[in-house]
Amino acid sequence: MSSVAEKLAPEAIKKLIPYQSARRIGGTGRVWLNANELETPIHYGDHVGDYHRYPDFLPHDVARAYQAYSQVTSPVLAVRGADEAIDLLIRTFCQPGRDNIVVCTPTYAMYEFCADALAIATIKVPLIGEQFKLDCQGVINAAQNANLVFLCSPNNPTGNLLDRGDIIEVLEATKHNTLVVVDEAYIEFEFQQSVASLVGEYPNLIVIRTLSKAFGLASVRCGFIIAAPSVMDFVMKLIPPYPMPDSSSKVVLEALSKEGISQMRAASDRLIQTRQWFIDQVSRMPFVNKVYPSATNFVLIHTRQGANVFDYLLSQGIVTRNQHHEPALRDCVRITIGSQQSMQEVVDVLNRYSITSNS
Ligand SMILES: Cc1ncc(COP(=O)(O)O)c(C=O)c1O
Repeated sequence: MSSVAEKLAPEAIKKLIPYQSARRIGGTGRVWLNANELETPIHYGDHVGDYHRYPDFLPHDVARAYQAYSQVTSPVLAVRGADEAIDLLIRTFCQPGRDNIVVCTPTYAMYEFCADALAIATIKVPLIGEQFKLDCQGVINAAQNANLVFLCSPNNPTGNLLDRGDIIEVLEATKHNTLVVVDEAYIEFEFQQSVASLVGEYPNLIVIRTLSKAFGLASVRCGFIIAAPSVMDFVMKLIPPYPMPDSSSKVVLEALSKEGISQMRAASDRLIQTRQWFIDQVSRMPFVNKVYPSATNFVLIHTRQGANVFDYLLSQGIVTRNQHHEPALRDCVRITIGSQQSMQEVVDVLNRYSITSNS
């Protein structure tokens, strides 16, 4: 029986012979003159590394380190950020002008953006109620006309985890027909809730991750795809020839070392404490209707109608994210949890706002 990935991949992708970069072809030898690199490095400024050679076709050591960290046995592929993973998956499994994806709104905007760019239609299934729960039946129905379903857990911008049982219900119902991508960009803040271990059981599940959030490596551009071999076979056809710069791989290996992981965990624990303190402070403010529970490094705040907290914070030099454009999130602002000092400053500014808006 053919895999879901095999059923969904467009004919053009099936026929595609991966681009044979010099590193992909590989070989053995003493003198490497096969990639039109500059053989004698030039050292610019204080940069001492040898940057004149193309990096590995696939940074296997990075993938192995991430696999160990994630405690999965399924294949892992390193890419340039979770955003590249989203784009790559859509391009691999959807045919422009014909196929659809499903997203559960409000959610991360890149899924729809990447689909739009390829004339792939987005079917929106709203999350339900104040708890932003998954509409399992709605997703399952929509998935019948879609190649990919994107579930974001914990979800951006609402901050909540999707229920594991709900994700499994969707995986079960779609296992013969649709690929389900679970975006776990924020999973480090609730690591035990990851569904990555289910990839072995559900070959239609693809998990995407990033080092941009809890690991604090946003500028390094490193993300991961965890998926069954049947999915990877197709993704590997489209993967760019040199997916990860050497300079990034070096930092990533440090971050994924035992020491690096415990540094990340300690920083996440501190952040979670700061988040709780901030939520306690803000919840008491008179212009705040609700602070939504968060499993991430941000909080979503629903303010009294017309209270323009976003603009006020901006006027005081504090940049947050306005969610007013999103119909389900009118009068909401999303605030990233920074250092205790930054959050104290936000609280001070909001207390001032409270006084001025009441007078
Ligand atoms: C849910 C979600 N997925 C993916 C990303 C992109 O991550 P990366 O920096 O790895 O491209 C973000 C970034 O904000 C995000 O919120």
